[in-house]
Amino acid sequence: MGFAELWASLLPVGRDAATGGYRRYSFTAADLACRAWFREAAAQRGLREVCDRNGNMWAWWDAPAVAGASPAVVTGSHLDSVPDGGAYDGPLGIVSAFAAIDELRARGFAPARPVGVAAFCEEEGGRFGLACLGSRLLTGAVDPAAARDLTDGDGVTLAEAMAGAGLDPAALGADEELLAGIGAFVELHVEQGSGLSGLGAPVGVAEGIWPHGRWRLDFTGRADHAGTTRLADRRDPMLPYAATVLEARQAASAHGGLATFGKVVAEPGAANAISSAVRAWLDARAPDQGALDHVVSQVEAAARRAAGAHGVEVSVRRESFTPPVVFDPALRGRLISALAAAGMAAPVLATGAGHDAGVLAARLPAAMLFVRNPAGVSHSPAERAEPADCETGVAALAAVIGELAGR
Ligand code: GLV
Ligand code: MN
Ligand code: MN
Repeated sequence: MGFAELWASLLPVGRDAATGGYRRYSFTAADLACRAWFREAAAQRGLREVCDRNGNMWAWWDAPAVAGASPAVVTGSHLDSVPDGGAYDGPLGIVSAFAAIDELRARGFAPARPVGVAAFCEEEGGRFGLACLGSRLLTGAVDPAAARDLTDGDGVTLAEAMAGAGLDPAALGADEELLAGIGAFVELHVEQGSGLSGLGAPVGVAEGIWPHGRWRLDFTGRADHAGTTRLADRRDPMLPYAATVLEARQAASAHGGLATFGKVVAEPGAANAISSAVRAWLDARAPDQGALDHVVSQVEAAARRAAGAHGVEVSVRRESFTPPVVFDPALRGRLISALAAAGMAAPVLATGAGHDAGVLAARLPAAMLFVRNPAGVSHSPAERAEPADCETGVAALAAVIGELAGR
């Protein structure tokens, strides 16, 4: 089965008919359908499928037993989405991985070491708030007890959701044996900007990832009547929240970073009442740690100042954080040479988007391939990649796996 057919088989899963966006949240029906699709794709190829203790799925192309340890080459990405996400963010890397294996086999390639396809769980943090949860648990970057207690918007814990999907939450935690068997991880991903479009290149190689994180701000005021409460008597949490949003834009601009409030909840949510609380999530990113620290401290200071001025309480808590990532230069060099040998000149790009490859890079050599995104739009139903560029991505990934898993 070629890329196009495999891609088409996943496309309808979890797509919202009204928006055209994807709602593939971990352990929901859409996610379980994605997991069934993964198992089927593995079975069709005779790959050995396993779900690890953290809900990440693996499909193994086992190599003939050889003397001594032979660390695997793993590729893959994630199947979950942000609310109304695009089709490509995550799934492109997994569909391309299976298609690259098909291409290598069609050429008669026999791997000298195992080749794995991984689908990491809850990469977006779209349900439980902690991005790259599956890879963080695998590498021991998150405490399993804290992870079990994470809740979704309806108060369902991760432990409850996992158990409902037939997985054992008691087993969550670092998997050193699995990690020790992996020699390199390469994630292919749609580019989430327009760098490759500007350079006229269908594929690129990642240099690194900006430091980034999420902070939750809870503004607590006092609910009251919108028609009878004098302005001077109000403790309205919406006002310091609004001031904080404007300050975030200023701070990001002043320090060359990015700051976004993309999720906000006003409680209890009555049009004719002052809110009792406003809960908001700051996503902040910058090219270096110093700049990121400046952005976040400026936003936090503004939140406290504005809250004080309006008689509102505020608390700020970091929910997830990824330090700066520089991908393994030696592995990146091997990718660039393998692509050059296949006739592809791949520019090297940095990105502000987070990826499981960035989490794994703390423990093993990791690298990324990007596929051109014509409009540069992502985390949106408008996200796109041309079919021809996707095919070039598959060829690039096949060349890279051939180089890393060959004799
Ligand atoms: C993942 O897509 C992220 O950068 O938030
Ligand atoms: Mn994403
Ligand atoms: Mn992604």
